[in-house]
Parts: sequence; structure tokens; C-alpha cells
Amino acid sequence: CKFLLNRKSVIEGQRCALFASLRCALRCGALVLFVTSDASFHSVSFSETDHPKVLITGGLGQLGVGLAKLLRKRFGKNNVILSDIRKPSSNVYHSGPFIYSDILDYKNLREIVVNNRITWLVHYSALLSAVGEANVALARSVNITGLHNILDIAAEHGLRLFVPSTIGAFGPTSPRNPTPDLCVQRPRTIYGVSKVHAELMGEYYHHRYGLDFRCLRYPGIISADSQPGGGTTDYAVQIFHDAIKTGKFECNLKPDTRLPMMYIDDCLRATLEVMEAPADTLSMRTYNINAMSFTPEELAQELQKQMPELEVTYDVDHVRQAIADSWPMNFDDSNARKDWGWKHDYDLPELVQTMLNYFGAETRMARAN
Ligand SMILES: NC(=O)c1ccc[n+]([C@@H]2O[C@H](COP(=O)([O-])OP(=O)(O)OC[C@H]3O[C@@H](n4cnc5c(N)ncnc54)[C@H](O)[C@@H]3O)[C@@H](O)[C@H]2O)c1
Ligand SMILES: *[C@@H]1O[C@H](CO)[C@@H](O)[C@H](O)[C@H]1NC(C)=O
Repeated sequence: CKFLLNRKSVIEGQRCALFASLRCALRCGALVLFVTSDASFHSVSFSETDHPKVLITGGLGQLGVGLAKLLRKRFGKNNVILSDIRKPSSNVYHSGPFIYSDILDYKNLREIVVNNRITWLVHYSALLSAVGEANVALARSVNITGLHNILDIAAEHGLRLFVPSTIGAFGPTSPRNPTPDLCVQRPRTIYGVSKVHAELMGEYYHHRYGLDFRCLRYPGIISADSQPGGGTTDYAVQIFHDAIKTGKFECNLKPDTRLPMMYIDDCLRATLEVMEAPADTLSMRTYNINAMSFTPEELAQELQKQMPELEVTYDVDHVRQAIADSWPMNFDDSNARKDWGWKHDYDLPELVQTMLNYFGAETRMARAN
């Protein structure tokens, strides 16, 4: 207390001493609270302070719940907050911290970041494609204004920010086989345009303001515990649902449409790994990641090895086919492999086996009930 040295400010000095003891009392009080509220204090408290404090926005979609589970395993349950504008299922609600957050509400976002001392932000919010098609203005504001809010919050509070992009960020004039990280990007879907916008804005904030922006271009993501939402790669999820339920599948893409795909566990692990990578290993801020590339015909054949009775027919949706024909067939992710050691676990046979095991277990449980 420098005031104590100044004779004229004895009063200030007393006030200062009072503050010092108050601070001490508060600290002790906080410590007592901390000890009593957390039974495993000794084992976790010190490492937990080094962990990032993560906020996932749009966390109730296909990817957020799984990512929260993975990050909680690594950083502790209370260090990962899921958020969305929808009501969580009771399962999700009881699995760890959940909070309401609308990315269009800047003050609400800031309050969450400040109150929870957030250090990492994962930006998963987006309008479901079906809703997005029906209400382009709303989709634009969620996808674009929402991103601007996220970038500003992250820059203002020094957060490490993850934003997902997609194979849809490429277009008919991009090289398709293979598609490198850096090439022409002139997508013709609004989805692709908004993702290129996100990549460029994030990189701009990185260079201009030093924002720790990290972005992966995801291929089509395949997972068992979510319903496909109307995207171009959704056939690869739908086929499992229909094969198990009816033994038949009608595909809306041509049999030889080759697209990059990935099992969800690989996608979530890639996200964790790129977020943990030391900044000096990242030669870029937006990376392609890939696991496998297959056609509907190849996927069907792999499935038929285990379900020979499966019948697949084709009824091409021309809008979707045109989109798929403008997307990468093979994704070159050699920079991700070189820079931060990306390595996928699931190829086509493991993917099919894992999906069938999941549905098999589910069917057995349903029968047992
Ligand atoms: N799933 C894939 O195959 C795939 C592939 C490439 C990229 N991506 C990208 O990854 C991200 C997450 O994908 P997903 O499949 O989990 O998305 P999703 O559409 O399943 O979930 C998005 C979530 O955002 C929420 N949301 C909508 N408006 C919001 C708002 N105003 N504020 C906060 N939340 C809001 C929705 O309620 C929903 O739960 C998206 O940006 C998507 O474009 C996904
Ligand atoms: C918004 O994002 C969703 C999913 O990421 C996409 O399906 C939709 O086309 C996008 N819409 C706009 C207007 O950017």
C-alpha cells in the first residue's frame, strides 16, 4: 500500500489496510467454499486451473454433444459449457453445464464469456438446413451476423476460436480430385458462400488483431445417434437407418458420386487436436481434414457384405446431384497430417462395422424391452 507511506493520507491508508484484510478474508472464504464444495479438491484443483474453459455454441446439433463429452473427459466436466437456444434433453442436461445462448445476442454472449472465464470458444451454431432453405434471411443472420459476433467476442477477450468449415466451401471451378487447402473457391450454394466468408473473416482477424482462429473443413460427417438433416452427404447416414428398418434404400445421388466422408469420432478428435496444437506448428489457419472417400455404390457393397439382402435403388435428386458434382471427390489433407499430426482411425470397413454394431445393439435393446 503506497498510501501508507504518505503522511497526508492516513485515512486512505486505513481504508487500504481494510481492503487488504477484506481481500484476505475473501480469499480465505473462497478457499473454504472451494474445499467444501468440491470433495475431490486435492486431486483435481491444480490441474483444472491449467485447463481451458470451453464454451460450445449451437451445442445441441449433430456435433456439439459428442464434442462436449470428449472435451469433458479431457478437461473436466465443469470446464466445458454446452449452449444452444433449444431445450436440452434430460440426458444432456444432467451430463454437465448447459446454458442458454443466442449468438445473435452480443451482450448475452459477452456475459457468458466473462462470468465463466471462457478461454476457448467452439462455434457450432447454424440454422438447420431445412429451416435455412425456408427462411434465408434468418439463416443469413444466424450464419453471418452470428459469426461476426463470435469473432468480436473472441478478439475482445483473447479467446482461442474454432469455426468449422466444409467441403461445401469449394465449387465447380475448384480442383476436385484431389482438392488442396489452397485453390479456387467459388461455391454456388449459400452454405458454401457463408463458409468461405467465415474462413476469410477468421483469417483476417488472425492477421489484423492476432485472433487465435482455427478452422477445419469437415467432410460429410457420419454418426449413428442423430437423424440426417437434409444435407448432400446425408444419404450415407440414411442408408443405415433404412437398411436396418426396411432392408431397402433409395439413394438420391448417382451410384458413382464420390465424396469425402468421416466418422464422427474422427471429426471430434481432429477438432480437439487442432485446438490443442501449439500455435507455432500451424502453418495455416484453415485445414482440410479427411478420412475416406466413397460412392453410394461402394458404401452399399460394404454394407451388403453383412446384409446380403439389402436392396439399393437410385432416384436422383437433380439439385443435390448438381451440388455433389461441384464438391471435392478426394480431399487433400496432407498439411493437417504434416503440421499437427492428423491421422484418421476409421476407413470404410470400420465405419460400416461401427454403425451396424450401434444399430444392432439398439435393436436388441428394443426387442428386450
Ligand atoms: N454435420 C456435418 O456433416 C457438418 C459438415 C461440415 C460442417 N459442419 C458444420 O459444423 C457445424 C455444426 O454442425 P451440426 O451438424 O452440429 O449443426 P446442427 O445444424 O445439427 O446444429 C446447429 C445448432 O445451432 C443451433 N442454433 C440455431 N440458431 C442459433 C442461434 N441463434 N444461437 C445459438 N444456437 C443456434 C441450433 O439450435 C442447432 O442445435 C455447422 O456450422 C455446420 O455447418 C457440419
Ligand atoms: C446456414 O448454415 C446452414 C448449416 O451450416 C446451411 O445449411 C445453410 O444453407 C446456411 N444458410 C445461409 C444463408 O448461410
